[in-house]
Amino acid sequence: MLDKFLLKKSEPALPDSLLKRLNEARKKPMPNHVAIIMDGNGRWAKQRNLPRVAGHHEGMKTVHKITRFANELGVKALTLYAFSTENWKRPKFEVDFLMKLPGEYLTTYLPELIEKNVKVEMIGDFEALPKHTQQAIENARKATEQNDGLVLNFALNYGSRLELVNVVKHISELAVAQQIAPEDIDEAFVESCLMTGHLPELDLLIRTSGEVRLSNFMLWQLAYAELAFTNVYWPDYNEECLLEAIEDFQLRNRRFGSLG
Ligand code: IPE
Ligand code: IPE
Ligand code: MG
Repeated sequence: MLDKFLLKKSEPALPDSLLKRLNEARKKPMPNHVAIIMDGNGRWAKQRNLPRVAGHHEGMKTVHKITRFANELGVKALTLYAFSTENWKRPKFEVDFLMKLPGEYLTTYLPELIEKNVKVEMIGDFEALPKHTQQAIENARKATEQNDGLVLNFALNYGSRLELVNVVKHISELAVAQQIAPEDIDEAFVESCLMTGHLPELDLLIRTSGEVRLSNFMLWQLAYAELAFTNVYWPDYNEECLLEAIEDFQLRNRRFGSLG
């Protein structure tokens, strides 16, 4: 009872005007798969004279907010870029902190994710993660594997070039073992070998913080995705920001090379 009250108090209901816009957006074509490059945590903290890791911690709360709202919108898959294969170049203290966040996030929010029918998944090099991070992810995967609502897909120790190298290796192994012939290899086959092979086609990519680059994220999958860039730092990103991106997406004319 007390818990419920505290939860309500710390998470105020969305204003009616936003809920109205949410309902309008739901009547229009919704992107099935949204991916977000969650950037700007460090600069958010710097602005406040806080250590960079305070920005990462605040960013975790945004993950919760945005996951919940994406679920309300009816998005089918939400891929969140949480740690790149290049982020190991950061100071050990920061990397260690980032590696603890999945555990903290899931300890806090897993019950709600289960209740809301969210399925937790991950793309990236799982084996190279610290054991405690692996355990947190594995536990959440298992606890939500029967869920068939929003797929919350963390890109953790993910790099698109590494993913593509692994696809090439896998296909070469199949070819060497004569399980496939070169003529079997087409776009659909390559697609099925990607870590996102089972997810809907990526429709919308959002990057926060004002950087306009992909930073080794989903290079194949982005071929025909719509792109949205915002100057907002990730810890400040909120439901209205996502709704704006969706409303803008719904106004676009996706031609896929045709005349539309
Ligand atoms: C994004 O925020 C989080 C990760 C890359 C892990 P940053 O830590 O990159 O924040 P900035 O870009 O330095 O502000
Ligand atoms: C991209 O952000 C990776 C994540 C958001 C996890 P970075 O902050 O690492 O990207 P660069 O270094 O500015 O390209
Ligand atoms: Mg950054």
